[in-house]
Amino acid sequence: MKTSVLFVCLGNICRSPTAHGVFEAILSQEGAKSIRSQVDVDSAGTGAWHVGEAPDRRAQAAARERGYALEHLRARQVEPTDFQRFDYIMAMDHQNLSDLNAMAPKDFSGELKLFLDYCDMDVSEVPDPYYGGDEGFSHVLDLVESASRGLLSELESRYT
Ligand code: 4NP
Repeated sequence: MKTSVLFVCLGNICRSPTAHGVFEAILSQEGAKSIRSQVDVDSAGTGAWHVGEAPDRRAQAAARERGYALEHLRARQVEPTDFQRFDYIMAMDHQNLSDLNAMAPKDFSGELKLFLDYCDMDVSEVPDPYYGGDEGFSHVLDLVESASRGLLSELESRYT
């Protein structure tokens, strides 16, 4: 049985596409062979302002510096069917989590939580870098890389 992971932020052009690209890359670089074909990854935003757009240029540039490609991704909004399609729904901040909890059907049986629950640093949110400088995008990558490794370990423990 496949496991599916959805990363969610507000606009789906900065944080969640970064998590999407980084997690896919880490999955294929570090993941045990058996798990790679078992995990589907996607991302979405709670808001609709940027639907259809590629990730923010600053997010793409920061990711590219670390060897991650994001340019193929396109923003979409979270849909009610996402709660049927995805086993893990990972919110980037408390507001995203609260918006997702409000949308989630009562019988949703997957994991809906903060992505940084899987991070080994003492932080709970991936801060929104949209209105800040380039260093914010690099900080997003630090947090996302750490949490991606934590999530990968959890998924590996399910498959081994
Ligand atoms: P994201 O960043 O949620 O990490 O994609 C944002 C992108 C756009 C906006 C807000 C946050 N916006 O207000 O347009």
